[in-house]
Amino acid sequence: MRDRVVAGAVVAAGVVLAATACGTGGLGAKGDTSNGQKLFVASCGGCHVLASAGTNGTTGPSLDAAFAEDVKEGYPQSSIRAVVLDQIRFAVLPMPANLVKGQDAQDVATYVASVAGVNGAEAAPPAVTGTNGAAIFKGNCSSCHTLAAAGAKGTVGPNLDQLKPAQPIVKRQVTNGGAVMPAFKGRLTPAQIDAVAKYVATHAGK
Ligand code: HEC
Ligand code: HEC
Repeated sequence: MRDRVVAGAVVAAGVVLAATACGTGGLGAKGDTSNGQKLFVASCGGCHVLASAGTNGTTGPSLDAAFAEDVKEGYPQSSIRAVVLDQIRFAVLPMPANLVKGQDAQDVATYVASVAGVNGAEAAPPAVTGTNGAAIFKGNCSSCHTLAAAGAKGTVGPNLDQLKPAQPIVKRQVTNGGAVMPAFKGRLTPAQIDAVAKYVATHAGK
């Protein structure tokens, strides 16, 4: 079962690698992994599992699973980095292209290439623990929503600072999801959903 999943991910990565062969440059450039991690949590984590960043989005594939086989086979980090960079630049919806640009994109790609699938990180998505609304928001919501209090600048969903939703509305939306937004019922506990709903309702527009 797990082998099949991994094999599928390798095929997907292989397709992207083939597209990379024409070369979009930047292979030798360096990146700042700590800036990359911060940006990843804010711009990507809501849609992707990446154990090292503590994110557990499920709209897109787990990046640990996607690159685990490449890491095992000894692919150079520079190749994985190029795949990630191309994905950032040429993504098709639902993943928005160019969420991060220029040096920021280099930093995110360098960071992802340095941690994705390393040390068997693909084994399990990170468990979300605790009921800290801010932490839950950053790990699950930031890449799609803007909320200044959390440093979130996502643009896939509505700007929560402008929307200023009441707590019951957030709770219902997080529980059931929407057309694009995933449902968090079963992924977050009822207490965690209450915590993030309260956090959004009290911090939006502040
Ligand atoms: C709104 C959700 C969303 C956001 C935000 C998002 N992604 Fe994605 N991502 C996806 C989806 C869906 C796919 C699979 C479809 C595709 O390949 O375009 C994907 C695919 C990928 C892949 C290819 C994985 C593979 O199997 O080869 C990489 C790498 C990736 N994303 C990196 C990122 C990075 C880095 C960011 C932040 C700059 C990001 N994503 C932000 C949804 C998202
Ligand atoms: C993959 C992107 C994505 C993620 C992750 C996401 N959202 Fe959303 N959200 C959306 C979109 C898009 C909408 C607009 C409705 C729709 O199409 O789903 C939305 C709508 C909302 C609304 C407005 C509901 C209303 O009735 O007006 C709230 C509140 C909200 N989201 C809160 C959250 C919170 C809190 C989280 C994290 C637990 C979260 N979202 C995670 C994309 C996302």
